[in-house]
Amino acid sequence: MRFLSAVSALSLLNLLSPLPVLATDWSIATADNTSALADFRPLLSPEATIALRGSCLFNNLTSRWREWHAPNIAAVVQVATENDVQQVVRLASKLKIPFVARAGGHGATESLSDAKNAIQIDFRKLNQVKLNSNGKTARIGGGANVKQVIDGLEAVGKRAVTGICECVGLSAPILGGGHGWLQGQYGLAADQVVSARVVLSNGDLVTVSEKSNPDLFWAIKGAGHNFGLVTEWEYRVHDTKEHQWSYEVFIYSQDKLEALYELANKMLKDQPAEATHWGYIVKAAAIDPVHPILWFGIIYDGPTETARAYAKPFHDIEPITVQAGEGTLHDLATLTFQDADGAGCAYGLTSLRYPIGLKSYNVAAVRKVYDHIDETFQKVPEVSGSFFLLEGYSTQGVQAVDSASTAFPHRDDEILVTSYVQYTPNSTIDPIAEEFGKTLRDFLLEGSDDPEHLRAYVNYANGDEPLEAVYGWDKWRLQKLRQLKRQWDPKNTMKYYVPFV
Ligand SMILES: Cc1cc2nc3c(=O)[nH]c(=O)nc-3n(C[C@H](O)[C@H](O)[C@H](O)COP(=O)(O)OP(=O)(O)OC[C@H]3O[C@@H](n4cnc5c(N)ncnc54)[C@H](O)[C@@H]3O)c2cc1C
Ligand SMILES: *[C@@H]1O[C@H](CO)[C@@H](O)[C@H](O)[C@H]1NC(C)=O
Ligand SMILES: *[C@@H]1O[C@H](CO)[C@@H](O)[C@H](O)[C@H]1NC(C)=O
Ligand SMILES: *[C@@H]1O[C@H](CO)[C@@H](O)[C@H](O)[C@H]1NC(C)=O
Repeated sequence: MRFLSAVSALSLLNLLSPLPVLATDWSIATADNTSALADFRPLLSPEATIALRGSCLFNNLTSRWREWHAPNIAAVVQVATENDVQQVVRLASKLKIPFVARAGGHGATESLSDAKNAIQIDFRKLNQVKLNSNGKTARIGGGANVKQVIDGLEAVGKRAVTGICECVGLSAPILGGGHGWLQGQYGLAADQVVSARVVLSNGDLVTVSEKSNPDLFWAIKGAGHNFGLVTEWEYRVHDTKEHQWSYEVFIYSQDKLEALYELANKMLKDQPAEATHWGYIVKAAAIDPVHPILWFGIIYDGPTETARAYAKPFHDIEPITVQAGEGTLHDLATLTFQDADGAGCAYGLTSLRYPIGLKSYNVAAVRKVYDHIDETFQKVPEVSGSFFLLEGYSTQGVQAVDSASTAFPHRDDEILVTSYVQYTPNSTIDPIAEEFGKTLRDFLLEGSDDPEHLRAYVNYANGDEPLEAVYGWDKWRLQKLRQLKRQWDPKNTMKYYVPFV
């Protein structure tokens, strides 16, 4: 990565608590202390592993981005084959043991904590990335994470729509829609799926595509966490480009907020498909020890000159610093604190998100958000490592797809905003943090195009939102989902990720 000038590390980085150090005892717990689990072993491939509570392996495999309100896991089955998934699901369903899929471990929504004494079906060994001979699609395992997909494709000269954060899984974002840098050009992650191999709650395996089980194919592109476990995706890929990505990061003091977000509104109107606006409101003690700063990045899939020309107006509102450069997708992840070593991948903090989809910025509402953040950080320093994320992805590719053709209901939104209220786990802070996050979202909702109808991305959903806010206010959407649910998961076994039955 090439820096033309650099800012000092933000407090976001300092907030990282070290990961827990594990003992080197890697002895795998045997499954023979419960009769139920003993039944699993003979059904599984030799490469599959089972880990029970109390073992080091168990602790390693169950630790996640947010432990707060996490699923309560009794045993982990690390599956190694598609048949392993089928066997575990079949037996767990028969024995009525709840199960939850696990890939990147960044899932964080209230209903996950409804899973009690559950089996974690751990997909992380199913992480293959293989280019098909047509050069247009790849087969990607249901447990691959963003970094594995990016690296695996880059090695064969390809790229695909993925999320930003390197350690987040690929599957869960797809199942809920899936936002990323390339969506303006190619559409959502869900739009890249040609077919998927899905294990149903009875253990049966089905293939879904436009031709095969098209109704289930529709459902897994937006409401997929509730329908089945995906062992493999057939996923669209594109040739990598000659040039690197270009970026400029502007740091502004708070008095520039109105000018910045008015300009962003203006520029979002004809934002090129290659450009992303990425904003944080965050404390950067090295720049301002008291008040949060405005971090604003223009990420551009194009040559530096084009990117600089596009971002020029942001120079005119007098940033404190500008950091400009070019780099790979990995460099972009680092730049936005979402690389494997960055804040986005750190485990162990309590983190609360309250997402809202918007058509444009109501600048007065963004001001209210800022002022409330500033005041709260001073009053409750425990939460002052939180950040507020304003994602202005380009949307051409997303809007090119017919909205009714997938379960993802928010194609008309231009901006995705959420707080990440983060702090060292502390039950005294929990209610304060919840109130804080809700208040920030309410400011934006009140100032939005449609204050009666919140729109909340399922993959960010806190879990307190009305179901219509998550799955769509058009009545037919939830009706259709519930009807499909009766057909494909009649016992509602898959109900731990924003369930609608
Ligand atoms: C730091 C951070 C950055 C993020 N960046 C982005 C982003 O750039 N774009 C975006 O769209 N979202 C993003 N998200 C949101 C993300 O989509 C969700 O948090 C998602 O649930 C994480 O998936 P995971 O595999 O990491 O988590 P997990 O907890 O492993 O999985 C979450 C849920 O997905 C389901 N699931 C996982 N694997 C499978 C499978 N193979 N088959 C069926 N169901 C499965 C299960 O229901 C599981 O409970 C981000 C989240 C965080 C915390
Ligand atoms: C297995 O046995 C140990 C020791 O008796 C116990 O602590 C643990 O809870 C058991 N595991 C399960 C899944 O029952
Ligand atoms: C789990 O173990 C792996 C392999 O040693 C290690 O890379 C990883 O950091 C561990 N994860 C946690 C959360 O401890
Ligand atoms: C939790 O937060 C409260 C309120 O700020 C504080 O008094 C307390 O010391 C914190 N507890 C821990 C364990 O950090």
